[in-house]
Amino acid sequence: MRRIGVLTSGGDAPGMNAAIRAVVRGSTAYGVEVIGIRHGYAGLISGDFVPLGPRDVANTIQRGGTVLLSARSLDFYTPAGRAQAAANAHAAGIEGLVAIGGDGTYQGAWRLWEEHQIPVICAPGTIDNDLCGTDETIGFDTAVNVATEAIDRIRDTAASHERVFFIEVMGRHTGFIALAVGIAGGAEVIALPERVPQPEQVARTIRDAQARGKLSAIVVVAEGAFPGGAQALMQAVHPLLGVKSWVTILGHIQRGGSPTAKDRVLASRLGTAAVEALLDGKAGLAVGVVNHQIHFTPLEIAACSCKLIDPHLVTLAQVLAL
Ligand code: F6P
Repeated sequence: MRRIGVLTSGGDAPGMNAAIRAVVRGSTAYGVEVIGIRHGYAGLISGDFVPLGPRDVANTIQRGGTVLLSARSLDFYTPAGRAQAAANAHAAGIEGLVAIGGDGTYQGAWRLWEEHQIPVICAPGTIDNDLCGTDETIGFDTAVNVATEAIDRIRDTAASHERVFFIEVMGRHTGFIALAVGIAGGAEVIALPERVPQPEQVARTIRDAQARGKLSAIVVVAEGAFPGGAQALMQAVHPLLGVKSWVTILGHIQRGGSPTAKDRVLASRLGTAAVEALLDGKAGLAVGVVNHQIHFTPLEIAACSCKLIDPHLVTLAQVLAL
């Protein structure tokens, strides 16, 4: 293999740049050229290509976002879009592809491999941590730390004024961020899409906490846990609780900023392992880290399976909220 492409797709995640850098430098070390594909799959369809050498990725490991830009491409969902993408890859001499992103990226990569036999290795780049085949995704640790710091700040003011705060974190379909942040931030209640919260139960938990002497409370809400998110949950709980509550939506703050050292190391390992896999003749796989070891999962499994939250962590959160 003499030339490989690299792209980032879907929602950006801190550490994507560290992964791109590892792909470029890992490839260069093995004498392989790298083509950066800008704007994810949309750039593969439009031919938005840029050659990347080791100096092009200098000073990027600490930067959030993605220097290759990202997009969610609707055209790539069509067979014609994927055929155009494959034709562009062939024309540019791209013999293998590293696609960094979330579940949509995995599904697109799987189709590209199945339909056009373009050797693809996916690396998990999403703050959501909702991908099978890896213990953690690139960006998750940073997002959890950013949100935890925000919750610590809110708790200071919540405690001073004896207030109840509903804090919304990202996670439309899964509650990995909410669960980690809720435990790390000492939340009284954690609302997850996997455990849809009942307003009566939330109000009762807060009232019980108040009866035990807690004067303020933090309710962490994954954005997909309740229709309308934290704002709607607060409004449903308010009449049952009888006291005014406050809502903070952390939003895209969680997706930006400098990646943690843990995310940089994870991204560096995964980017290099993806290149080595392609050079080994592997394809149609997602690379991850499971039990500290590099691990490969067939894309048709990684793209279509649901990663489950750890029920022990849910219990732990309830125990520690006493
Ligand atoms: O998948 C990553 C993610 O940040 C989710 O947590 C969130 O639900 C979604 O992307 C937001 O997407 P967008 O930035 O397109 O609104």
